[in-house]
Formats: sequence, structure tokens, C-alpha cells
Amino acid sequence: MPTPPPSPPPDRRPDEPTGRSAVRALLRLWPHVRPVRVRLFTAAFVAIIASCVGLVIPLVLKWLVDGPVAGRDTAGVWLGALYLLLLGVAEALLFGVRRWLVARPLARVEADLRARLYAHVQRLPVAFLDRWASGQLLSRGTTDLMLLRQFLAFPLTFLLVNGVTIVVGVVVMLLQDFTLGLVMLAPAVPLVAFSSVFEKRYARAARQAQDQVGDLTTVIEESVLGIRIVKGFGRHRSQARAFRQLSRRLRGTELRKARLLATIWAVIVTLPETAIGATLVVGAVQVADGTLSAGTLVAFLSTALALRWPVESIGFLLAMCQEAATATERYFEVLDAPTEDQQAAGGRTPVPTGGCRSRAVRASPAATGLRFEGVRFRYPDAPPGSPPLLDGVDLHIRPGESVALVGATGSGKTTLTALVPRLHEVTEGRITLDGRDITAMPREELRALVAVAFEEPTLFSASVADNVLMGGDGTAGTAELHRALAVAQADFVHTLPQGTATQVGEQGLSLSGGQRQRLALARAVVGRPRFLILDDPLSALDVHTEAAVEAALRHVLAGTTALIVAHRPSTVLLADRVALLSQGRIAAVGTHHELLRTNAEYARLMSGRPWAGAQPDGTGRGRPAKEAR
Ligand SMILES: Nc1ncnc2c1ncn2[C@@H]1O[C@H](COP(=O)(O)OP(=O)(O)OP(=O)(O)O)[C@@H](O)[C@H]1O
Ligand SMILES: [Mg+2]
Repeated sequence: MPTPPPSPPPDRRPDEPTGRSAVRALLRLWPHVRPVRVRLFTAAFVAIIASCVGLVIPLVLKWLVDGPVAGRDTAGVWLGALYLLLLGVAEALLFGVRRWLVARPLARVEADLRARLYAHVQRLPVAFLDRWASGQLLSRGTTDLMLLRQFLAFPLTFLLVNGVTIVVGVVVMLLQDFTLGLVMLAPAVPLVAFSSVFEKRYARAARQAQDQVGDLTTVIEESVLGIRIVKGFGRHRSQARAFRQLSRRLRGTELRKARLLATIWAVIVTLPETAIGATLVVGAVQVADGTLSAGTLVAFLSTALALRWPVESIGFLLAMCQEAATATERYFEVLDAPTEDQQAAGGRTPVPTGGCRSRAVRASPAATGLRFEGVRFRYPDAPPGSPPLLDGVDLHIRPGESVALVGATGSGKTTLTALVPRLHEVTEGRITLDGRDITAMPREELRALVAVAFEEPTLFSASVADNVLMGGDGTAGTAELHRALAVAQADFVHTLPQGTATQVGEQGLSLSGGQRQRLALARAVVGRPRFLILDDPLSALDVHTEAAVEAALRHVLAGTTALIVAHRPSTVLLADRVALLSQGRIAAVGTHHELLRTNAEYARLMSGRPWAGAQPDGTGRGRPAKEAR
């Protein structure tokens, strides 16, 4: 039994974000933001007005200082104070309106992006999902999308708003006093240079942090799913150590981000503050000389102070943009992966072998049923140069016939069965159902024709009935449900607290391995499929239940064309014929008794006796074998 690895294998890392453009990455969000653009632009416009209202305040101050204050006009001072109050209230109200405008549409954008990601992941080829750590997918659907919503709600608007505010403020300052304005503007050049260096560094750190969140999610998910193994093997310490390591690594990256942010923040705060100090000195000298009115200096400094927040915020707004750009890239890494259909459209065209095409065209009786013709297959991530796992499988299962597939562990039985519903694509050769190449059929039609029960019976967090009826075409009702449960000998469901309405799966009642297997079997037979693929469907059952399921299954098998992976003679006897998979090919076909007599390897597999041709790993080709059953 495998023990959990001390630390998860590193996920596929895309290229480092060198030379990438944050703007280009973020622009990819536009199609998703388009539907809410009116509200978003309105909100930005409202925020710009609010921000500019704030800039009027210094002008009222100037009027107040040079007018009523200088003239000792108390009524005028009260009026000025009232103006200031009204301006402040207006600014606050406008910012409130902005928030109200964006909240709902942005929640919708986030929900749409998430739905799109989910729908896409459902349609991705199994091979893609095999390669990706689940935590990396999870973190994209959660943390990254949250970052994107935050970006649309806040930095996107405020970069624009603060940019406009700074420009307007600078113009106002230059108009008030050109020399003082230039003194204020002096730090702009080093600030821009510094920001661009910061941006690149921060982008790298942000990408790293987000990938590390994905790794961390993977470890959490694996430990929760594998909690029995973690506890059973006393691996909680090593698992916790692995978690601590990853979380320390993430902490390090987050601290690096914080340090970068602190540096840019320090520069962004210090430079303008120095400029304000310099302006104060120069301005005070000018006021003393009588070349500048005190009101103008007050207004000038108030404007400069009003611009402090827009300028200071630029640092973390840029940081948030970088994080959002990284999140967008990570999001589209999944969304850009071709779905099963896209891959089929742009990929391999099925290679007809050995004149089978003409047989298919004539649709002679021999072409009906389920047929494997010269099927070759190797996993895309198999080591280069290794022989194909399936190396020319030829097998014909006649309509209504059931064939048991027998082979050593690791010989490729599960792989062969996965090729029929096109969970993996054959590398060469073809598979036909009633003479039709499966690659020429729409996937939906194919999967409606073929029902499968896999080795690992997976149940979803839903009721027993929903789990079973999932195997039907949507029209199956209670009668079909009960028939399927009877075939699978799953009468135990009637003793569950709410019968077939009982919630099972991860968020429901835990069932035993054999109970789950029987529900998975019921799911496979509920739709009365034309073709039935069962991967070792009875392995977890006791002999009595197995015998009962077999008796009931015989009736179902009489009406379907079935391929049943079997390890035990009792399961093999369900089938009309047996095919032995060895060395990537069908080495022998016959009845159980024929093969027992004529094939030494088969006899060994069925009886446990040693076989002269066996390799130490039991697979005959040096691949790592699973533990013996
Ligand atoms: N997704 C995958 N990517 C790469 N290699 C895989 C993948 N799945 C299985 N394999 C390899 O393919 C070989 C055959 O696996 P398969 O599951 O088809 O065997 P099997 O005959 O069903 O074995 P068992 O009787 O133990 O169920 C194994 O060596 C396995 O390591
Ligand atoms: Mg298997």
C-alpha cells in the first residue's frame, strides 16, 4: 500500500513571468467584464468626480484665508466652513454610490468566471487532470478568482481615478504657482523608475506565492482524502512536517512581497513628503517676500496634501494589479487547455488498420458488437522510448456477448476499458461499436451507449437515488432505480435512514467498500446500456453477495454487450468467453475451461500456481506492479 509522500510532487510550473506584460494579461479579462462595462465606467466616473470634489476643498480654503479670515469677517468664515462641510459630504456620498454601483456586477463577473472554469475543467481530457495537482485547480477557482474580483472592484478603478486626480491636482498646483509646482513635481522621475523595477520583482514573487498556495491546498486536500492512511500508518507527523515546510515557504514568499511593498511604500511616501517640505520652505520665503499670498500657499499645500493618498496608493495598487495579472495568467492556463473535443478536432485522425475500414462500411454481422482493432496505447507521460502499454489489441465481442478480460495486475486492463468511453484516446488502431468508429461519434452519444463501473467506486455528495440515476439518460424513474438496485443486490439501501433518499458520498453517510461497489454497479446498469464495461465490479464483495450479484447480473448481461475485467474465477464464469491480456496484446481467447487447459499463464492467474514465463514484477514487462491481490 502506498504511503503518502512527505511532500507533494511539484506541480507543472509555467514559465517564469519574464518579459510578460501585466496589461496584456489583464486585457484578457475584458470579454468577461464587457457585460458590466457601463456600470464599471459609471462607477469610475463617479469616483473621479468625488476625487475632484476633494480637490476643490483647498480652493475654498484659499478663498477663506485670503478673504474672510484676512478681513476678520466671522459670517464669511461660517459660510466657508459650511461650504467645506457640504463638499466633504458630497465626496463621501459619491464614493458610496461608486461602491454600490460595482458590488453586484462584480460578484456576477466572479461567478461567471468561476462557472466557466468549472465547466471547462469538466470537459478537459482525463490525461490533463492526471497531470495537474488538484490543489492547483482548486486555488485557481478560489483564491485567484477572489483576487480578480478585488482587482476589478478596487485597483482598476482607483488607478484610473487616482491617475486623473494626480493630473488635475498637478495642473491646479502649477496654475497656482509655477515654481512651487515644479518643486513638487521633481520626485516624479525617480519614482517612475523605481516603480518599474519594483513591478517586475513583485510580479515574480506574486506568481510564486500563488503557486505555493496551490501546493498547500493540494497537501490539505490529500491529507483530508487520505486521512485513514495518514492515521493508519502514523504519518501525521511527516504529513504535518510537509505542510509546515510548504507553509513556511509560502510565508517566506509573502514576507518577500511585504518587504518589496515596504520598500516601494517608503520611497513613495518619502519623496513627496520631502518635496512638500521643500515647497513649504520656498513658499514661506515667498510669502515673507510678499511675492505670494498666504492663501495661495495654504491652498497649494492643501492640494499637495490632498494628493498624498492618490500618490501613496499607487504602490499597493500596482502590487494588486500584479497579483491580478498573475491570477489571470493562472486562470487562463486552465481555460486555454484544449477540451476533449478541441483536442480531437485538432489532433490525431483515427488510423484504420488491416482493412477493417471495408468491413465497417459493409457493416457485416462480424462488424457489430464491440471491436478492438490493432489498438495501441501509451500514456502521454510514459517515459520516452518505453514500449506502448497496449501493443496491438485485437478483440471482438459479439452483440449480446460478455467477455471477461483477465491479465496480471498492471497489464493494462483498466487502461483498455478506459479507451472505450474515450477517457483516453487510442494512440493507434481503432475501436468500433456496432461497426462505428468511436472517434467518429459525438462523445455524448458514445457515453450514452456505453456504461462503466470503475475499480474505484466513486459516489458523489447526493442521495443514493441521484447517485444511481446518474447512470441513466435522465428518463429512468423509480422502477428503473429499484431494478438496478436489485441487480446490484443493493438491498441494504432500504435499511438506510431515509432509504434511497439518504445522502451518501463525502458529505453524507459513509458506506462500506462493498456497498459503494454495489451502488456503482447499479449506476452502470440503470440505463440498460447497449455496452457495459465493468472493471472488477465484485472485488469487494463477500462470496455470498458476489454469488447473488452474479445471478442477477446474468439477466442484465444477456441483453448487453459486455466487457468485464475479472480477477476471480467466479467473476470470469459470468462471461461467455475470456480474453487474456498479456504483454500488451490479447494472448488467448476462449472459454474459462479451455484456457485453463491450454494456457499456462491463464491457469496461473486463476489458480495462483507459478508460471514459467512470469517476470518478477508479474507484468511480464518490467513495469511496477501493484500489490498482489
Ligand atoms: N494515468 C496514468 N499515467 C501513466 N501511467 C499510468 C496511468 N494509469 C496507469 N498507468 C500505468 O499503466 C499500467 C497499467 O495500468 P492499469 O491500471 O491499466 O492496470 P490493470 O491491468 O488495470 O491493473 P490492476 O489489475 O491492478 O487493476 C501500470 O503500469 C500503470 O502504472
Ligand atoms: Mg485495473
